Amino acid sequence: MCGIIGYIGLRQAQPILLNCLGRLEYRGYDSCGIAVSEHGINVCKDAIRVEALKKTMPRLDGTAGIGHTRWATHGEPSPINAHPHLDCSGKIAVVHNGIITNYQNLRDQLSGEGHQFVSETDTEVIPHLIEKYYNGNLETAVAAALNDIEGSYAIIVLATDEPKLVAARKDSPIIISLGDRENFIASDVPAILDYSNRVVYLEDGDIGVITTDSIKVSRRGNEVAVKVHQISWTVEDAQKAGYEHFMLKEIHEQPKVIRDTLAGWVSGEALEDLATMWGDDINALLILACGTSYHAALIGKQIGQELLKIPVRAELASEFNYSTQPLARTLAIAITQSGETADTLKAMKKLKEVGCQALAITNVVGSTASRIADRTLYTRAGPEISVAATKSFTAQLMVLYQLMMSHPEIGARRLNSMTKELRQLPNKVQQVLDNEGEIAQYARELSQYENIFYIGRGINFPVALEGALKLKEISYIHGEGYAAGELKHGPFALLGSDTPVIALLAQDDTYEPMLTNIKEVKARGSPIIALTREGDEDIEKIVDKVLTVPQVEAIFSPVVNTIALQLLAYYAAREKGCPIDFPRNLAKSVTVE
Ligand code: AGP
Repeated sequence: MCGIIGYIGLRQAQPILLNCLGRLEYRGYDSCGIAVSEHGINVCKDAIRVEALKKTMPRLDGTAGIGHTRWATHGEPSPINAHPHLDCSGKIAVVHNGIITNYQNLRDQLSGEGHQFVSETDTEVIPHLIEKYYNGNLETAVAAALNDIEGSYAIIVLATDEPKLVAARKDSPIIISLGDRENFIASDVPAILDYSNRVVYLEDGDIGVITTDSIKVSRRGNEVAVKVHQISWTVEDAQKAGYEHFMLKEIHEQPKVIRDTLAGWVSGEALEDLATMWGDDINALLILACGTSYHAALIGKQIGQELLKIPVRAELASEFNYSTQPLARTLAIAITQSGETADTLKAMKKLKEVGCQALAITNVVGSTASRIADRTLYTRAGPEISVAATKSFTAQLMVLYQLMMSHPEIGARRLNSMTKELRQLPNKVQQVLDNEGEIAQYARELSQYENIFYIGRGINFPVALEGALKLKEISYIHGEGYAAGELKHGPFALLGSDTPVIALLAQDDTYEPMLTNIKEVKARGSPIIALTREGDEDIEKIVDKVLTVPQVEAIFSPVVNTIALQLLAYYAAREKGCPIDFPRNLAKSVTVE
């Protein structure tokens, strides 16, 4: 839930660390700091954003250093609780992403041995443990300290006495990146794209050591050969490209994301490969995810129920972890943009323990989810920086459509008609984006309200949930997604002229009942906006406003409808002056349970 970075090379570390931290802020942004080593360690940290730290901090000389951007778990955001943390001597500095679960015991024990703590964080025990075990070899001391630690961690350690950085991981992501006479360690690829596109992924339990000219990775005490991966993401992918916010840029990238994620399907290569997912013994599907990815899972369930003849379930990973379920002959699919969401990873491990086949759908090559899974399908969304998920959701849907369509029992006619529609989707999505001005106008009006309902049925019920999540996440307006048929069982009590309702329609058997539900809402006095296909004249007579999207087959309506709702949330948040890419209290990658 935090971003960490380390640099060692021939250049001054400070500007590089700050630049990389700026790229990692989507992982947490309540405080930040860096430590640079030159004849001693100098630390500068505060409960401010990276841009502010850049402006206020003094120059720190040195060609090796570490940095951190934080999402608080233990101790409020404050200069003292910000990382890096030091040992008693001030010669060892540590940045950490994760949670040390036995930190209180370690802290009591170390305090009894004379160590003094200054922060409320769990992290601070790490530099003190390393200090305790340090005997002239930093790597050995780190390994000894990690033996005492329980919980999750990605750490980078800097010490004045040795010209190197040491990194380690357990259940939190970390990469080493190779430069020319300089090397990097980071939580994630976007951090280092300005400097390198060659990375090495560490496994759980690995210890990595980098110097200016070398990298070394040890596994259970033995050095292992490193595999260098070439990253296809470019630095431009991780920049705003003239858009006011990453979120808006990422919304606008969706026609391309659809094309990229469908490339294999359209060329015919993907069908054969995907079909191999469906072993003869599979007679049920279970889709697991959190947040927006869970909404994709719910839509996947609807697609599966329509196309397949086997039961399909979708579950919140965080709830699945505390349930018992029949899993025999089940193909489990975990959807996670980051590939690092703690609840989803825990669910995947649980599935593996009971011998279930686990398929990951993720956006991040080399992520933990891809390592746990038996097989991985990658979404081709490129780096998603804004905390609010947009293009990754659409890419997840594209993978789910292809996967379900690859089932051997889908008839050729259905397959051909759906493939034809899929090919047209990028253009249809572009038409939604071209209607941005009208959507923005509606959003400005909606931004005046405190509560807004989103209602849908069938495949558009999860779209209602996603529209509401997007709204509350970035505009801080209370959005409530509801199954349209359920309003009468309680929420009607909340309706009235101060509570608008956005009704999502699709051209399927839910259309007529939706009309009935809309009339019921109207009778309770709520302003109603209908999101429907172009030329839907019936609806115009009933509702207050109509927002249209291009006509698509109902099974694809979540794509165009969701993108319209993403824009609606974006412009409502913009109208309210909210920090759209970095909403309060949130982080992009949720690596705690
Ligand atoms: C959505 O806008 C959120 N950022 C959040 O709900 C997110 O989808 C969730 O945390 C799951 O993340 P993942 O896809 O990386 O697992």
